[in-house]
Formats: sequence, C-alpha cells, structure tokens
Amino acid sequence: MELDTFVRALPKAELHLHIEGTLEPELMFRLAARNGVALPWKSVEDTRAAYDFSDLQSFLDLYYAGAAALIHEQDFHELAMAYFERAHADGVVHAELFFDPQTHTARGVAFDTVLAGLERACADALRRYGISSRLIMCFLRHLSEDDGFAALQQAMPHLARIHGVGLDSSEKGHPPSKFARLFARCRELGLHLVAHAGEEGPPAYIVEALDLLKVERIDHGVRAAEDPALMARLAREQVPLTVCPLSNVRLCVFPTLAQHNLKSLLDAGLKVTINSDDPAYFGGYVAQNYIDTATALGLTKAELKQIARNSLEAAFVDTATRAPWVGRLEALSD
Ligand code: ADE
Ligand code: ZN
Repeated sequence: MELDTFVRALPKAELHLHIEGTLEPELMFRLAARNGVALPWKSVEDTRAAYDFSDLQSFLDLYYAGAAALIHEQDFHELAMAYFERAHADGVVHAELFFDPQTHTARGVAFDTVLAGLERACADALRRYGISSRLIMCFLRHLSEDDGFAALQQAMPHLARIHGVGLDSSEKGHPPSKFARLFARCRELGLHLVAHAGEEGPPAYIVEALDLLKVERIDHGVRAAEDPALMARLAREQVPLTVCPLSNVRLCVFPTLAQHNLKSLLDAGLKVTINSDDPAYFGGYVAQNYIDTATALGLTKAELKQIARNSLEAAFVDTATRAPWVGRLEALSD
C-alpha cells in the first residue's frame, strides 16, 4: 500500500490539537468580514506570507491576533467542523481538542459561547463522521495562576462537557510549578490533566509537570532527550508524549524534519504519538505529519502502526470504546 493511503487508513487519535490553531486564513477573513473585525493583514496571501516563525512567541503573537476573528457561537462551530472534516479525511477516529478560553473571554466573548459552539460541533462530528471527541481547556501560562483560577471558575457550571485541562502558551519563564495549586484543584474535580512541557523549555519542566502537576500526558516533551534519567523514567512509566513534528520544525525546535528526534524517542521505548498542534499555521494536518515524518526519518509501517496504537491507548476513553479502533488497526495490512 502507498504510504499516503496506509497512513490515512490507520485508525488514529489526535491528542494535541489547538482548535484555534486550525483557523485557516480563508475562514479567518470570512469571519472577520462577517463580524466587522479588523485583522493586521491585507489578504489571505499576505497572512500566509506572515507565517515565517523564529520561535514559539513569534507564532503565538500571530495566533492570538487571528483568533480575534472568532466572536459568535456559530464561528466556533464552523471552525471545529472544518477541522473535523479534515480529521475524518485523515483517518482520525477520536480527537481531543484543546481550547483557550482566556484568549476569548479577555476580548469579551463569553465562556459559554465558545463552549457551546465547540460542543455542538463535537456532537455533529459524531453524527456526520463517527468521530468521537473530548474538550480539553488550556490555561495560558503567560498569565497568572489567579487568572487560571478565574477561568476555572467560569468553567465550573460546564464541567460535565470538559474532560480535562492543559497548560499552553509561552513556555520559557513560566514553569509548571507556577500552576501547582490550580492543577491540584482540577485534580480534585476529577479532570484529566496534561501540560505542554519540553517544547522550548528545559527537561526540568517535564519533571515538574509530572511531579507537581501530576499530568497524565506530556504535550511535546521532545527536550526530554537531554536528560537520560528522565528518558528512562518516561520509558518505564510509559508516559504518552504528544509530539508535533511539523510544528517543531516551523517553530525552530529542530532545524529540519530529518534532524527531529522522534525516532530516537521511539527507539528508547517512549510512548510517542504524532499530532498536528496548529495545522493551519504549520503546513499540515495529522496525516501529513505522519507522512512527512516517516519520509524524513525512514519510519517503517510497523513503526507508524505503533505510533497510531500509542495514540489510541493514550486517549481519554474507556476500553470498550477503544477496542474496535485497535481491532481495525491490528487488521490493517501493509
Ligand atoms: N498554543 C498553541 N500552540 C502552542 C504550542 N505549540 N505551544 C504552546 N502553546 C501553544
Ligand atoms: Zn500545542
């Protein structure tokens, strides 16, 4: 089977996907016009040309500017439906969507507006594509822990529709320890816990996310490779890493995809998954991440199958939900 066909046929879960990062410039301009929002770019082409990032912060500045086009419930619904359509074409059977409520509430968009649009899209995606999904609310780490507590307060009436919490935005200088009390509270509330760590920040941030925040998965985590003791621990404890190869290259974490450490993480026995992070900004959705990474690093189909299996095992779903996906994956021939 051709690589492209094989990758799309693999049942897979996408576990690291910022829904605001799926806002393609075409939709951004359409929403901005509909909502009377001024964007800092003249055209769709002008916007794409601006996507030339030197690090995480240079991306985040544009990402938050683009998110300003999202105002109404319908906008969030359209955004997520556009993602689900692409995810379905990529063979995604389950998606866990990050959303950043503070980005929207700071602009006067109500928490409930954001959640209602995303929630309706999740229900429509199940009906239309058979894709199951979860919503993971992320706290912005460049803001204070008190700000995070305020976001959690707004989420309280909606916790039945939110499966977990995460930590994203500017990593350097904002260690997980800054949010220890907030994550402890979320843990008491029975929420699943994840955090971005070791994308640009040091391996010590991964250790803090595990020990202080008690997260179940690490988002990115590629800088674990700099700490042999941490590598041994991640392998022993089978902590899932949600790696985003195209994102890492576009944000200059690795100079090229051929120099990415995903294969060495896999060879060291870590539970590696492949995800797209912010695909509208980084040049590829999840299947493209699998295909380009396999090509650049020479991954075998057995390795791609292992990565997809890891994603299904690391998803926040019960065994009965997971079993048919794993069955289809094991039945897939090369
Ligand atoms: N927000 C959206 N994408 C992100 C990333 N890759 N790292 C941190 N925060 C983000
Ligand atoms: Zn991310």
